[in-house]
Amino acid sequence: MLKKTFACFSATLALAASALIASGQNAPATLTLHPDQPISTVSPTLYGLMTEEINYAYDGGLYAEMVRNRTFRGEWSGIPYWYLVEGGNARAKMSHDATTGPSAALPTSLKLEIEQADVHSQAGVLNVGWWGMALHHNTEYKGSFYAKADTAGIGPITVSLVNDDTGKAVASATVNGVGTDWKQFTFALKTGAMEASSTNHLVITAGHAGTMWLQLVSLFPPTYHNRANGNRIDLMDKLAAMHPAFLRLPGGNYLEGDHIEDRFEWKKTIGPLVDRPTHRSPWNYQSSDGMGLLEFLEWCEDLHMQPVLAVYAGYSLAQEHVNPGSDLEPYVQDALDELEYVTGGPDTKWGSERVKDGHPAPFKLTYVEIGNEDNFDKSGSYEGRYAQFYKAIKAKYPDLQLIATMPLKDMKPDVQDDHYYVRATQNFADATHYDKADRNGPKIFVGEWATREGAPTPNMGAALGDAAWMTGLERNSDLIVMSSYAPLLVNVDPGGMQWETDLIGYNAIKSYGSPAYYAQVMFASYLGDHTVASKLENGGAKLFYSSTVNTAKKQLYLKLVNASSDPQPLQIALPGAQPKAMAKLVRLSAPDTQTTNSIDDPNRLVPVESPVHDVSSKFSITLPAYSIEVLLIDLQ
Ligand code: AHR
Repeated sequence: MLKKTFACFSATLALAASALIASGQNAPATLTLHPDQPISTVSPTLYGLMTEEINYAYDGGLYAEMVRNRTFRGEWSGIPYWYLVEGGNARAKMSHDATTGPSAALPTSLKLEIEQADVHSQAGVLNVGWWGMALHHNTEYKGSFYAKADTAGIGPITVSLVNDDTGKAVASATVNGVGTDWKQFTFALKTGAMEASSTNHLVITAGHAGTMWLQLVSLFPPTYHNRANGNRIDLMDKLAAMHPAFLRLPGGNYLEGDHIEDRFEWKKTIGPLVDRPTHRSPWNYQSSDGMGLLEFLEWCEDLHMQPVLAVYAGYSLAQEHVNPGSDLEPYVQDALDELEYVTGGPDTKWGSERVKDGHPAPFKLTYVEIGNEDNFDKSGSYEGRYAQFYKAIKAKYPDLQLIATMPLKDMKPDVQDDHYYVRATQNFADATHYDKADRNGPKIFVGEWATREGAPTPNMGAALGDAAWMTGLERNSDLIVMSSYAPLLVNVDPGGMQWETDLIGYNAIKSYGSPAYYAQVMFASYLGDHTVASKLENGGAKLFYSSTVNTAKKQLYLKLVNASSDPQPLQIALPGAQPKAMAKLVRLSAPDTQTTNSIDDPNRLVPVESPVHDVSSKFSITLPAYSIEVLLIDLQ
């Protein structure tokens, strides 16, 4: 979302600056830029994405599956999100059956015992979805389930999408052939003319007495790039607009799990869904693992990102660790297998598994992260664990860059992952954090960072903190090879959020970007390849900038952040440069720091684009209070 207006920097702004001087107030801020004097390189991979299964980011979020608890995990109170349906005088009961299922990975099922039913009084079950099921007009929804019955005479099964308010079916299909052995059935539900709504549920019924078992009930809307088992289009579009260069996967804490057995076991996330047992995420809910290793990689492919693959390194959050040495060997081997699955040819064991899973071409991989936040491992075992992974991986893949998750004493890792979750004031104070950092140490990956102000999504104050921080990332991008905001996604429905301040919010039917999201879009859309010599005078503590040049496009990108409550007049000098007279300005601003976007007011703050007239080698602009700007100046 980018609003276009026409605004020009009128002479009054320059006059305002002169008036300030005349009235004896501080001298105006002056920014001198030398686009012809390169200072340091900017990494082409500076901006990327970091996500994990938190805040219903995949299940109930990006991963487009509409059925919640599709594998019928039972709890003491029943099977969550599933309910019994007894139409008319039908009589039935449902229960969790631990004795039968379609696969070794899914050995249980939902058992539906129909005592009485007929064509007009059907019995079955319904699923409420992820806080509803979003339906649009004239759209096809593709579904499937595994089923068996005690008798082949159970008859046709009706599958319908039903509106919660009217109780009427919006789309229906019939599935025939359920017999006494487990088998997968597919169906398509097509809506007609209707208003888009998320107050719908899925109903599966039979019109004959008998017992039926169900497992892995799935339903997908159209997905991004029409991928089977794919992603939500609106969210993928929002991520694409961030121009991400990489995806750090699969986490975060999600990689580690609370306990070793809860780690992201990649081998249990590949292949047919029926062979994925699902697992517990450390964010207190079960992950369907529909977003498995290959789906992560295909997501990278869809958005032209490179994967930054984190491998489990023998530490889980409840202070469980694996000792370096022979205990760790199976985990190292598992990581080697994973690298082979990602990058190996069809002649390799795991490469051929990937081919079997439907992706013949290997993926390009440059960075591998060993673990996550191992500074929390109180056993102090990380030095040894990292060294063991490093030796084994480098022996087979010498070109891979291996990321350490904390500073190391005994060796210099290729890259070190630093994380920052702070308040805006800290980011204002710390925007120079890396200015004096050691250039002989490891390269830096700022793998998780965010200004945490605002819930569920950041407000303008947070966006200002983020933007100030990003000016420092750009200035130091000779050192900082990559950076990614976290967490990225949050389902804003009640109970959807486990972690406050997340970049993009959504419910079943719509999504929105926070002001901080738009700050990222602005910064990443205009990434130069080197910084240029510059000097800011009289800027004050709340004015931040970054100046880079895109050599191929002959453009100067000037990012400006005025985090103050006052407008900021600024004189810009470009000695020696001959800018074209017209430039473009992209601006995000707000009346105060608390203003934000929300699911019901998604476009309150969006960047506004306008032409800037009369750009010359010396010109003035005034930055409104609480504003973030990107000024694009064409160089001759
Ligand atoms: O982004 C939320 C969590 O913060 C990540 O899972 C973890 O790596 C960090 O502590």
